Amino acid sequence: MISFEYPVMLVGANGMLGRAWRQELERSGIAYTAPSRECFNICDPEQIHREIDGQLSAVINCAGWTDVDGAEADPAGAMALNASAPGNLALACDHAGIPFVHYSTDYVFDGEVGSPYLPDDPRGPVNAYGRSKAIGENLVRMNSAHHLIIRSSWLYAPWGKNFLRTMADIMRTNPKVRVVEDQIGRPTSAEWLAQASLRLLMTDKRGIWHVTDDGQCSWHRFALTIRDALNLPCEVEPCASSTYPRPASRPEWSVLDISRTTEAIGQAPHWEDSVRDAARRATSDARIAA
Ligand SMILES: NC(=O)c1ccc[n+]([C@@H]2O[C@H](COP(=O)([O-])OP(=O)(O)OC[C@H]3O[C@@H](n4cnc5c(N)ncnc54)[C@H](OP(=O)(O)O)[C@@H]3O)[C@@H](O)[C@H]2O)c1
Repeated sequence: MISFEYPVMLVGANGMLGRAWRQELERSGIAYTAPSRECFNICDPEQIHREIDGQLSAVINCAGWTDVDGAEADPAGAMALNASAPGNLALACDHAGIPFVHYSTDYVFDGEVGSPYLPDDPRGPVNAYGRSKAIGENLVRMNSAHHLIIRSSWLYAPWGKNFLRTMADIMRTNPKVRVVEDQIGRPTSAEWLAQASLRLLMTDKRGIWHVTDDGQCSWHRFALTIRDALNLPCEVEPCASSTYPRPASRPEWSVLDISRTTEAIGQAPHWEDSVRDAARRATSDARIAA
């Protein structure tokens, strides 16, 4: 069992998931360091080898290239951040003899199967982002004996750049919005993801795990739930993804199977409850900030 004798290093601590992890570590009383990108650039292998040693309990990598459409225009940039960098972090952790926690995505799958994807199912990414994450998984597995790769999907939080906050902003200022209904997946609260990840790490789980909220939905249903939670008068009309072609293709049905995770650490909260809660807190956060 991991002792947390030394601090944990949290990489990407200012991102959406990174902020949830900070909250979780503070709540759990676990000491951590959170170097900014300026102090610790994960694309610099020398820096990685200098900073990661046995005086850390674990490294948690929340950094990455998350612009799915942008990756089509700069696949090398996505590959550097999502594949080479985690490969180097994993190697440094292996040399230090400490666990390496890394995040991957439902977009490593092609979405053609129509039943929930198990952790060991064959992958087949349909866009540059998914390909970079799939190669990242390979390198992490190859380079670290103590890796914990957690695949998740459709992240949201009351903070950061995500669908929930973007939709809330659009629906506050528009009488009508059209949202895709032919892509199905599992929304995931970044707060639950951090909490579940810590449980997996603390119980010495290794290998690939899936963590999402319970339940599944379309982007359209997700948007309706946000609207209703915030009591907004906006009409949310369903549309096909072909109506709004985007640079990156997306898998149509990318539901991750979370049964093994549920057995190991308990039931995930249902996405509708967590989305309502996050939507309301996102509103009050905005009011406090204003
Ligand atoms: N968002 C989703 O829907 C989703 C779904 C499935 C899986 N995931 C995975 O979950 C993880 C976290 O996603 P997220 O949405 O929380 O990401 P995010 O909000 O975009 O945050 C990414 C973080 O990476 C940091 N970063 C970027 N380049 C860096 C570099 N060269 N060196 C050090 N740090 C760097 C950024 O630093 P700055 O703060 O300085 O910009 C930022 O803090 C990623 O691996 C992502 O692929 C996300």
